[in-house]
Amino acid sequence: MVGTDWDQRYREGSDRWELGHPAPPLEAFLRRDARAPQPPGRVLVPGCGRGHEVALLAHLGYGAIGVDFSREAIQAAKALHGSDPDQLRWLQADLFHAEALAAAGISAASLQGVLEHTCFCAIDPAQRTAYLDTVMRLLAPGGWLLGLFWCHQRPGGPPWGSDAALLAQQLAAAGFRQELWEPAQGSVVERDHEWLGLWRRPVPEPGPVVA
Ligand SMILES: C[S@@+](CC[C@H](N)C(=O)[O-])C[C@H]1O[C@@H](n2cnc3c(N)ncnc32)[C@H](O)[C@@H]1O
Repeated sequence: MVGTDWDQRYREGSDRWELGHPAPPLEAFLRRDARAPQPPGRVLVPGCGRGHEVALLAHLGYGAIGVDFSREAIQAAKALHGSDPDQLRWLQADLFHAEALAAAGISAASLQGVLEHTCFCAIDPAQRTAYLDTVMRLLAPGGWLLGLFWCHQRPGGPPWGSDAALLAQQLAAAGFRQELWEPAQGSVVERDHEWLGLWRRPVPEPGPVVA
């Protein structure tokens, strides 16, 4: 689906993914779990929709950036949450359009974090490797990917399901170091089989010192 297809869904209200608030497992983890990454830092939310997780990140002290290729979504996010040049930014762009991101200052190794919520299940599964490669490229060494992934097994999509074991393998193959991967706690009732994960872009080992 392209941006205008999503625009149509936002316009006609066929947006059954809309929670009206941040996903409870992500909010609880960020606010209360000792394993959660800590602000400050620039954090991107791909496919941010109406931006509830972006606003939460800004509230927690991150420099939060919401990206979505739907004009409707970005307009609604701005209207709902406002904007701030340092803490809360919005960009209408395709996540896979590296030049558009770079023009907005989102370039290689420029982010401390990426927060995933229902973008991964919205893109064509054939784009998943590109998604992971994009996140890896944008993260600074040591940067994190926190995500709530929908591991339902129903055919078709969006929302496309995932297999939890396979997804962990895909992340490892993309070069991520896993810190957490477990069934999510406190998901809304319609979201069966959500998994919560936290991964890092590894910090390169220092090279040998040449005397
Ligand atoms: C299922 S909605 C979820 C929105 C939001 N994350 C939420 O949970 O409310 C998926 C969103 O991803 C956006 N999206 C899909 N593919 C995208 C891409 N390649 N680049 C940017 N946004 C994309 C869509 O426009 C849509 O707003």
